[in-house]
Order: sequence, then C-alpha cells, then structure tokens
Amino acid sequence: MTIDILTLFPNMFEGFLNESIIKRAISKKQVVINIHNFRDYSLDPHHKVDDYAFGGGEGMVLMPQPIFDCVASLKKENSKVILLTPQGQTFNQKMAYTLTKEEHLIIICGHYEGFDERIRTLADIELSIGDYILTGGELASMVIADAVVRLLDGVIKTNSHQNDSFNSHLLDYPVYTKPVDFRGMLVPEVLLSGHHENIKKWRYEEQLKRTKERRPDLLEKR
Ligand code: ADE
Repeated sequence: MTIDILTLFPNMFEGFLNESIIKRAISKKQVVINIHNFRDYSLDPHHKVDDYAFGGGEGMVLMPQPIFDCVASLKKENSKVILLTPQGQTFNQKMAYTLTKEEHLIIICGHYEGFDERIRTLADIELSIGDYILTGGELASMVIADAVVRLLDGVIKTNSHQNDSFNSHLLDYPVYTKPVDFRGMLVPEVLLSGHHENIKKWRYEEQLKRTKERRPDLLEKR
C-alpha cells in the first residue's frame, strides 16, 4: 500500500514515521508513506495557500488550486482520496479493515478555519476521527494511517489484531505480567493455574463484564 498525505506541516510527521511499528513497516516495504507539502504546488508568487472567506467571517480558508494540483499529480486509477474534516463519517475499526484493501490512499489534511467547498469534489470519502475539533487534519491522518498500517499483512502478528476489541464488539480482557505480587496487588490465581480452559472462560467473562461496565453500547451491536 502507498499512502500519500497532503499537509502544510510535514514536520509533524517526523516522529510518526521514524518510530516503532510504522518505522518497521516502512523499512520492510510493507507500506510506503509520502508526505507532501501542498504549499509547493501553489502557483501564487508568494506560495500562498489560503485567503479570506467570500462573504466575510473569521479566519482564512484553504484555496483549491494547490490541493487540486497536488492531488492531480499523485492520483492514479486505483487511488482513494480521503478528506479529513470533523464533518466526515466517523472513522472506526471496520473502516480501517476496509481501507486495507486499497492500494493507494491520498489523505488531505485540512487546516485553519476551513477549506474551500470545491475541495470536497476531490474526495471519495470524508472522514472524521471523532466529535471534537483539531487544529488540522494532521493528527487525524496519523491516526488513520496507524490504524490501517498495523492491519496490513505481516506488520503485526495476525493473532494480535484478530483479537482486537471492536472486532468482536467486546473490550479486551485484563492482562498481567511479572511479578505475581506487585506491592500487594496479586495476579488472579486462575492465570497461574496452567488450566487453559479455565483461563479462556475467565477471560471471556472478564470481557463481558468490562464491556457491560464501560461500553454497554458495544454489547447491543453483538
Ligand atoms: N480536522 C479537524 N478536526 C478533525 C477531526 N475531528 N477529524 C478529522 N479531521 C479533523
């Protein structure tokens, strides 16, 4: 998979691309992630990318030209163009799985007070990562890229994500590691028993209990 991200703030991606699982996926060529500063595509002599809103109002609005030209230079037949906006469909795990089937994602990060409405015509889908307003789409693009890349073949062990919460509409069971007694807080006996059936049963019951307490809405989806 190739992911092209359009942003005015390429430096924000340094840590994301150079640490942990994403870094490993890139070096193993499981994904290619390119960051494009769409200011470089501005035809304005001063590389301007935004201007005042017609009709008045606070703040600057991203102009269509740099983003249209940047997308045009990247788009192929199999590309899926995603526009990040709080007005989009809310991203979730199911959508992350759906996006793994794409060969090429182009993700447009909005910024400032908004973007010219005509930019919407470029998008195959508009996505939001939740009901709150970020200063721009950069963090949202990293959230989506991260959630998708970890599901790509070989990036992490398939077992690790097959059991993810939200696949089964159940939250994960609690896990423990050494020591058995940490400052008086003990690991549940059953996990030390070596009795696999009992462990399985205990874990499933814990999942149900947790989900009921914390996310009863998920149980309704089951
Ligand atoms: N841009 C600003 N807020 C956003 C959000 N919640 N999701 C996606 N893009 C955004």
